[in-house]
Amino acid sequence: MQTSPLKIGIAGSGFAGKFHHRNLRGLPAVTVGVTSTRASSREAFAAEFGVRAYASVDEMLPDIDVLDICTPPSSHAAYIRKAAAAGKHVIVEKPFHGFFGSPKEHPKEEMLAAVTEELRDLRKVVTDSGILLGYAENIIYAPSVQREREIIERSKAQILRMTAEESHSGSHSPVYGIWSESGGGSLIGKGCHPLGGVLYLKRKEGLARNGTAIRPVAVSCRTHSITKLPAFEDRGYLRAHYEDGEDYAFLHVIFEDGTVADVMTSELVLGGVYDFIEVFANNHRTRCHIQPVKVVDLYSPDKKEFAGMDLMEKISSNEGWIPAFPEFGWSNGQYYEMRDFVTCMQEGRQPECDLELAIDTTLAIYAGYLSADRKGQEVEVPRI
Ligand SMILES: NC(=O)c1ccc[n+]([C@@H]2O[C@H](COP(=O)([O-])OP(=O)(O)OC[C@H]3O[C@@H](n4cnc5c(N)ncnc54)[C@H](O)[C@@H]3O)[C@@H](O)[C@H]2O)c1
Repeated sequence: MQTSPLKIGIAGSGFAGKFHHRNLRGLPAVTVGVTSTRASSREAFAAEFGVRAYASVDEMLPDIDVLDICTPPSSHAAYIRKAAAAGKHVIVEKPFHGFFGSPKEHPKEEMLAAVTEELRDLRKVVTDSGILLGYAENIIYAPSVQREREIIERSKAQILRMTAEESHSGSHSPVYGIWSESGGGSLIGKGCHPLGGVLYLKRKEGLARNGTAIRPVAVSCRTHSITKLPAFEDRGYLRAHYEDGEDYAFLHVIFEDGTVADVMTSELVLGGVYDFIEVFANNHRTRCHIQPVKVVDLYSPDKKEFAGMDLMEKISSNEGWIPAFPEFGWSNGQYYEMRDFVTCMQEGRQPECDLELAIDTTLAIYAGYLSADRKGQEVEVPRI
């Protein structure tokens, strides 16, 4: 048990790096420093939050207890290895890992095989080093999802089917939709959230009823690039022009007990982030609203009143009736995930959202990409 505040070093000074830092408020942890490939970006972050700017992860590692990886996905694995070699705990943003090469040059069979091998090795590296790894899948920590976890555990419910979605009008990140940087399109970039959520709930059901997690065994998937269709009429409200990543995906997951989940994800949804998990069980039914949530109904007569305010993620205009956040990230669990990671790393125990969930989510995604390549044919999710 560590009694002094955990020293956190953040890699990546963009959107995620900032909300990770803000969500350490009130926790026994302190952001010691930040690094980013762009000097101007890390220095601006350091000045804004009063922390030290480091030139690299290597330079920062000796001064920290935890490396908090908020960089684009193609750098996650290398940074996990560096932190593990230095004996430092890891927090890593979603998506955990992927295949970063052009789909024109690399068939999906190769991608799935390479990702499987890399995950096998990463698991060994993390386990052998004895560090703790928190996979920052915030949906796991959404208050509605945690309520459902409790309902499943206490009533020993059996989940029969689930539907889940995360969509919005398109990522702000310049590397989004470029496979070699992002590892795919909507399925990995956004679909990892609801997929992580359904895998987590089924895992919890298995542990509560039989003492072992119920894992995904096979998937069928379709992916589409709707904004690339010649017939798509661009009115300017949705982001378009993705390089080689899809903007819509549908993933059907089959679990080892034969029950199922259907995950949808896209860049085609206006009106803010659309994020839910619906559970159909043998003894109850639950709609977990993640975003939007009806807690604060705010009416704005004119968008200029609240220009630049974070009232709802990805809403295009702060005008009219808005289901505003009670506080940024509350309903999607972003504060609670940092609280769990910090507490577990101080106490030396595994966080709720761990390496195993990160691995299963990644494997199901790349099995999904292979299935989509085969126009929806069922593909086994590898076991490592
Ligand atoms: N959980 C969520 O809701 C959520 C939301 C947004 C982003 N994310 C995830 O967070 C990660 C970062 O996304 P973002 O939106 O903050 O991106 P961003 O583009 O806003 O910021 C990325 C930062 O990383 C830096 N960077 C890039 N490559 C680097 C490298 N190799 N080493 C060090 N720094 C590097 C960039 O200079 C920039 O400061 C991604 O994995 C993304 O999927 C998660």
